[in-house]
Amino acid sequence: MKQTPSRSYPRTRLRRNRKAPWSRNLVQENELCAQDLIWPLFIIDGTNERQPVASMPGVDRLSIDLAVEAVREAAQLGIPAVALFPNATADLRTELADEATNPDNLICRAVRAIKQEVPQVGVICDVALDPYTSHGHDGILIDGVIDNDRSVEVLVQQALVQAKAGADVIAPSDMMDGRVGLIRDELEAEGFVDVQIMAYSAKYASTFYGPFRDAIGSNVNFKGDKKTYQMNPANSDEALHEVLLDLQEGADMVMVKPGMAYLDILSRIATQFQCPTFAYQVSGEYAMLMAAVEKGLLDKNQVMMECLMSFKRAGANGILTYFAQDAARLLRDKGL
Ligand code: PBG
Repeated sequence: MKQTPSRSYPRTRLRRNRKAPWSRNLVQENELCAQDLIWPLFIIDGTNERQPVASMPGVDRLSIDLAVEAVREAAQLGIPAVALFPNATADLRTELADEATNPDNLICRAVRAIKQEVPQVGVICDVALDPYTSHGHDGILIDGVIDNDRSVEVLVQQALVQAKAGADVIAPSDMMDGRVGLIRDELEAEGFVDVQIMAYSAKYASTFYGPFRDAIGSNVNFKGDKKTYQMNPANSDEALHEVLLDLQEGADMVMVKPGMAYLDILSRIATQFQCPTFAYQVSGEYAMLMAAVEKGLLDKNQVMMECLMSFKRAGANGILTYFAQDAARLLRDKGL
C-alpha cells in the first residue's frame, strides 16, 4: 500500500480494525495451518523403543513401529509430511559412510514401513553423511579436508537407495557443490522422475544445530566445525546464489536453515524467486524455547504459534518444526 499524506490521525485510526476478534480475523494477512507443517522424526533400531532426547524436551527417538504410529497421528492431524533422521548405532559409523548407501539401512526400512502403512503422508529423507561417518561430518574427509566430488558420489547413491525405498522427497542437507544436479540426473536416469528435491539451499554453519547432533549421535567424535561447506552467518547475497544454483540444478523446493535468526534470508528468497520456500525451525530453536517454557518464562502454546507464524509472514510456504504435532493439535482444537 502506498503511503499517502491523507492517511493521518484522526481520520485514520489503525486501532479501529483491531477493536474485536472478528475484525482482527477479517484483516489478518497470514494464516498458519496444519498443512504448513513438516514434522522431523528421529529413528532408532528396535521394536517399541522410545528414547527421550535430553536436550529437546518432548522429543523422542522412535523405533520404526512407533514412528509409523506417529505418522498415523500426523495424518489424522492434517500434517502433510514427515522428515526422517536416523540415529545409527556406533558400529555403523565408518570413515566412508558405507551405511548411507545400504538399501536396508534404518532410514530405508523406515520409509518402506511408513509408505506401506500411511501412504498418504509425504516422506522426506535427508541426504548427508553425518549420521554414518565416524567423524560426524556431512561429507568424505580426505587428509582432514572434505572432498566435495567424492562426497557427492556417495550422496547420489544415498539419494538413490532412499528413492528406491519409496521416499517422496529427497532433501540434501550436506551443502556440497553440485549435488542437487547430480542427484536429479541420477533420479531421472533411474526412472524416479516424480521424486521431488527439497534442497537445503541456504544452510548456515550454525550453533543452533547442537541438540540435533545429540539426537542423531553425530556429535560423539565430531571435532571442529562445518564452515568449509555450510554458509557464513554474515552472508545474505550468497544465499540467493545458492538458491539460484539449486533451482537451475533441478530442485523443486528450497529451504532456509536455521529459521528465526534468518528470517531476512527467507524473506529475500521468497520475494526474489517466488518458488516453494521452506524454513527449518531447528533443534536449538526448539530447545531454547522449551527451556524458557520449562522455566515458566514463556507460555508454550503462545510462543510456539507466534514463532511459527513469523515464518509464514516472512514468506515460507511451510515449516519444518519439532512443534508440528503440538501445533497441529492446537490448531485442531481451535477449529482451524
Ligand atoms: C545433517 C543435518 C543437520 C540438521 C539437519 N540435517 C545438522 C548439521 O548439519 O550439523 C540440523 C537440524 C536441526 O538442528 O534441527 N546435515
